[in-house]
Amino acid sequence: LTRNSFPKGFVFGTATSAYQYEGAVQDDGRGPAIWDKFAHTFGKIIDFSNADVAVDQYNRFEEDIQLMSDMGMDAYRFSIAWPRIFPNGTGEVNQAGIDHYNNLINALLAKGIEPYVTLYHWDLPQALEDKYTGWLDRQIINDYAVYAETCFKAFGDRVKHWITFNEPHTVTVQGYDSGLQAPGRCSLILHLYCKEGNSGTEPYIVAHNIILAHATVADIYMNKYKATQNGQLGISFDVIWYEPMSNSTADVEATKRAQEFQLGWFADPFFFGDYPEIMRSRVGKRLPKFTAEEAALVKGSLDFMGINHYTTFYVQDDESSVVGTLLNNTLADTGTISLPFRNGKPIGDRANSIWLYIVPGSMRSLMNYVKDRYNTPPVYITENGMDDSNSPFISLKDAVKDDKRISYHNEYLTNLAASIREDGCDVRGYFVWSLLDNWEWTAGYTSRFGLYFVDYNNNLKRYPKNSVLWFKNLLASSCKFGGP
Ligand code: GCO
Repeated sequence: LTRNSFPKGFVFGTATSAYQYEGAVQDDGRGPAIWDKFAHTFGKIIDFSNADVAVDQYNRFEEDIQLMSDMGMDAYRFSIAWPRIFPNGTGEVNQAGIDHYNNLINALLAKGIEPYVTLYHWDLPQALEDKYTGWLDRQIINDYAVYAETCFKAFGDRVKHWITFNEPHTVTVQGYDSGLQAPGRCSLILHLYCKEGNSGTEPYIVAHNIILAHATVADIYMNKYKATQNGQLGISFDVIWYEPMSNSTADVEATKRAQEFQLGWFADPFFFGDYPEIMRSRVGKRLPKFTAEEAALVKGSLDFMGINHYTTFYVQDDESSVVGTLLNNTLADTGTISLPFRNGKPIGDRANSIWLYIVPGSMRSLMNYVKDRYNTPPVYITENGMDDSNSPFISLKDAVKDDKRISYHNEYLTNLAASIREDGCDVRGYFVWSLLDNWEWTAGYTSRFGLYFVDYNNNLKRYPKNSVLWFKNLLASSCKFGGP
């Protein structure tokens, strides 16, 4: 595998998010986010940690940019914290927030690193949750549009790739169905653990508002900024690859359904102007409708598709939906169950996270699925990576020996390259999750996804793992803009 395995101009970068990296949550006028409240609620985060400090990238971005530059990375995907730009979600702009991201962007460009900017990576201003329940209310579309436009105005002369949303499916299902993530709403039955909610309807409303928010912002960009700034807008979809549990018709059908309820739910409206037919028939009246005007606004409003892909599960038909029906959740609507085991055997080697099984061939299958279903859209892999556990017993010397991570990236990238060269998929870049070890949401600091090790016991010092050298060699393997 060399740079020449990929087409000319193929972009390599690392990916991060504001909430998992920045820390400095009370500095320079930042307002509270829904994740601050969630992380500070007892019992939500497995190691009782929070991201008040995280890996302090707010103060150390220059050092971190040097680390990217040392590897020869072309690009950096990071997110802007909405509550740094609008501490109350709306109203007055916080100039210190603008200044911070200007400094970050300028420092990247000075090292020849292209910024790929996510506008929403989950840190909704708490004020909007308090005011009107955030994504559940249509008012969010206007407020998000004002925030996005403020970013285009301030940064769009230098930022050419915008990701309006990170993983809308995760936001929707974990935030409003399982309740495992902020704002932690779910069905009445789970009420002891969650805040109030109605997981039969809320996930579908939230998804709808997110889709309309993207389309509204894309329309603004197209009409007011595209001509002068000439950038591109995409969304990063989280996509687990699904394989049928057996080759029975029921399981094969269930597998299709599961994928349409995952990627199709969020991507179909942008390509076809509506949700998948299977969702219409199974969710019925609970699934919001697009007016003709909205459908026209949504359809075609993505310039590229971002895909965050890590893992693969088997899918089994489960029309009875015992668990799902009890909880009245989106899973019940699919009539499926997904599991990483078949006959007691895991689908692949497991990383640290309980959901992360290593199945590199799925990268190629997924790229082909996207190509066939959506007619060869431009794709960026906006996240791919694996974690190690944060063991208190392991020495630094051993912790940086991440040969498993090297083979993970080697194999996923080999499959990605094959999908481009042999199958004709249009993939334009690849972002490793993640540059550094960082705060992994509800898993807190127990999970280490970084190419660089962060010493949480000694001033957050960064140390290269072996995978850093591997990427450095890969990226130096031919001229930077090379490739056949
Ligand atoms: C994301 C992710 C990241 C995670 C990564 C590993 O969805 O973009 O949640 O923020 O850290 O996916 O789980």
